Amino acid sequence: MARGERFQAPLSPQVSSFLSSLSFDWRLLGVDVEGSLAHLAMLAHRGVVAPEVAEKLRHGLLEIRREWEDGTLKPRPEWEDVHMNVEGRLHELVGPDAGRLHTARSRNDQVAVDLHLYMLRESQKMQQDLRQVLDALAGLADRTLDVMMPGFTHLQPAQPVRMAHHWLAYASMFLRDWDRLDDWHHRADCSPLGAGALAGTPYPTDPDETRVLLGFARLYQNSLDAVSDRDYLLEFLSWASIFMVHVSRLAEELVLWSNPSFGFVVLGDGYSTGSSIMPQKKNPDVAELLRGKSGRVFGSLVTLLTVMKGLPLTYNSDMQEDKEALFDTVDTVQAVLGILPGLLSGLAFDTDRLKAAAAAQYTNATDLADRLAGQGVPFRQAHHRVGGLVRDLIDRGYTHFHDVPPDQWEILAPDIPYTWLEQLSPEKLADARAQSFSTARSSVIRQIRQLKSWLDAHPRSDR
Ligand code: ARG
Repeated sequence: MARGERFQAPLSPQVSSFLSSLSFDWRLLGVDVEGSLAHLAMLAHRGVVAPEVAEKLRHGLLEIRREWEDGTLKPRPEWEDVHMNVEGRLHELVGPDAGRLHTARSRNDQVAVDLHLYMLRESQKMQQDLRQVLDALAGLADRTLDVMMPGFTHLQPAQPVRMAHHWLAYASMFLRDWDRLDDWHHRADCSPLGAGALAGTPYPTDPDETRVLLGFARLYQNSLDAVSDRDYLLEFLSWASIFMVHVSRLAEELVLWSNPSFGFVVLGDGYSTGSSIMPQKKNPDVAELLRGKSGRVFGSLVTLLTVMKGLPLTYNSDMQEDKEALFDTVDTVQAVLGILPGLLSGLAFDTDRLKAAAAAQYTNATDLADRLAGQGVPFRQAHHRVGGLVRDLIDRGYTHFHDVPPDQWEILAPDIPYTWLEQLSPEKLADARAQSFSTARSSVIRQIRQLKSWLDAHPRSDR
């Protein structure tokens, strides 16, 4: 049908199926009809299509959308994509006048407007769902304000932190994701409709009218760019990749922390699985898959970068390859966003074990050195002194300064008053770090409050 009378020989079934995007663009039908309705209204308004014809076509389009929504409309492989399916079905419903819908339009601006509309909708859902993740993190932070744990660098115990502080670090990442999606939205909110195949159309159309009807903030400045731009998809896939980096880091910590060697968290039963052979196992599969799904999202970004690289202006069929990578990413990110809040809220903690780990392995060594420095010893020298002491104590089988009996301490560290150790509990060390972004109780409370006021300022809207 798209080939018209220009050709005598038909396409072989093999070639038709190779060309077809129908197996993956069917989901665009709703937005495709929306774009067509706006285009039609504009054509009627500008006198390009007679009002009674426009009305007939409008009813046909609404009927097609209804059939698609209730599942009675089936993709027809003889029409190569969703756009041709709508037109073909419209022809069945209203007859040859269906052919007037495509006046002053090309599938090039049509698919571009569909993708813009689709992505603007889906990204709004994602922002809403991201908000729910932030809400779950705020809840976790509330519950773990007074849970002490070791903070890590190089995955080695470093300094004690409040566990709430750790969750709030993820909240910071997801807030940036939320913001980035908001920024993206401003750029993506742009209508390509009316560009035609590439150069505009000779009909007296008004692209600004369809822009307004479709609710876009802006119109593309250049019709060649309008039909060939896929930056907004590349940006979205970049966004999704960064988001999945955050998710995979969080997931990795859950995998590690639920390992009995750490024993920090207990995953909810509803988010863990057993082994088909080892009856004792409780596996963190959900967290593992959250981590693993980053791979396909990064892959999609690379797919589209590679498809777009070096393409001459304007539309090229290569660009049809944008959709599977894009839709897979939308589906993956939405599934991930759907899982995270329940997974996070269902976490339980072994607070005694966390507390013991927070204090073990000399996580207070820095502060002991700081105390020496406070007595006038240059910090580098104090660092050496405490490092030597730690090595000595490890050699003697101690894992913690507090394990050393006072009389032994006198012998091993006569230059360091034993009473200092009382000041080196995880809570005290944490609370000594009182900068606004640090781990002191008051600072963390402030950070929780900040997150909650963001949540209040961005209420969940009903879809
Ligand atoms: N199915 C096509 C795509 O997804 C629609 C645009 C086709 N345009 C064309 N001139 N072949 O990109």
